[in-house]
Amino acid sequence: MYSPADSRYDAKDFYRRCGRSGVRLPLISLGLWHNFGGQDFYANARAIACRAFDLGITCFDLANNYGPPAGSAETTFGRILREDLRPWRDEMIITTKAGYDMWPGPYGEWGSRKYLLSSLDQSLKRMGLEYVDIFYSHRPDPHTPLEETMGALAQAVRSGKALYAGISNYQPADTARAAKLLRDLGAPCLIHQPRYSMLDRWIEPALLATLEAEGIGCTVFSPLAKGVLTNRYFSGIPADSRAGHNPRFLLPAEITDAVLTKTKKLDELAQSRGQTLAQMALAWVLRHKVVTSALIGASKVSQVDDCVGAMKHLNFSAEELARIEKILA
Ligand SMILES: NC(=O)c1ccc[n+]([C@@H]2O[C@H](COP(=O)([O-])OP(=O)(O)OC[C@H]3O[C@@H](n4cnc5c(N)ncnc54)[C@H](OP(=O)(O)O)[C@@H]3O)[C@@H](O)[C@H]2O)c1
Repeated sequence: MYSPADSRYDAKDFYRRCGRSGVRLPLISLGLWHNFGGQDFYANARAIACRAFDLGITCFDLANNYGPPAGSAETTFGRILREDLRPWRDEMIITTKAGYDMWPGPYGEWGSRKYLLSSLDQSLKRMGLEYVDIFYSHRPDPHTPLEETMGALAQAVRSGKALYAGISNYQPADTARAAKLLRDLGAPCLIHQPRYSMLDRWIEPALLATLEAEGIGCTVFSPLAKGVLTNRYFSGIPADSRAGHNPRFLLPAEITDAVLTKTKKLDELAQSRGQTLAQMALAWVLRHKVVTSALIGASKVSQVDDCVGAMKHLNFSAEELARIEKILA
């Protein structure tokens, strides 16, 4: 039977306040997009989740469609909760989302009230939960009024099925509008979840400033560029890697010589800092104080250990930052 490590909260500076809310999140959160599906090895998924909790990772990120098949990551996590983690539910931030295609017909994707609220009910059932901590609109819907989508998030909060509302993949202007709507509805936007890494910097010109001004937290997904910003691909494409066995989400063709030249140079710099490349890539996204948490994925327990090790060295000198800019240019 699982019993969590007594040391899990020893590193006090592992938590950062989420925007201007009362919630603190771990610098590293665990995402269940990959490796927790119905076709994955349950014992490995359980070991990753439990190790994460042992290391002080309190935030577990899900979505209705994670799997495959869609829904199965929530079912897997529900089993982990039921068999192991349930006694510590109040120590955890469990999130889910709705927005991408989930079931057939006109009500199974995007941002209608009909879809969001019925999807949340399904997610709660799969995980065996009465409420999630954060319910996200997974993507903006160009055809549904933002008022309707935000109204559904606020309704989820009012009904007690979610404690906080969040948005993901929204552009800066829509983020500001969503923030105002949610504030007016009495369910302030806790957090935004955008993609961000050394290889994808779209949030830098405007979104980060919008989040800071609105007092919204930020958990950045794919901070390791799905594994590219690690040593995973330095000697080819391993069969057990994402590009090796799940090329739908990371095409081997994306790992070009030009990309590898950059990541190998970054790795040299990471080594000179006494870190792995994964650790430096995480420290780099966390250099912005508005970034509350780096949301990683992991296929092995050892990757979670390595990633959490990032917090041993989060600071960068001006010279190191300049070297990184030069490599990425
Ligand atoms: N809101 C959205 O639209 C959205 C979209 C995508 C993801 N997300 C969330 O973000 C989470 C993270 O996304 P992601 O999995 O793409 O993040 P990521 O952290 O960029 O990539 C994770 C992958 O990197 C490799 N890895 C991790 N740690 C490593 C280490 N220390 N050394 C070597 N390799 C390492 C593993 O690849 P291998 O599997 O090859 O070992 C792992 O599966 C998802 O689970 C999900 O919760 C949200």
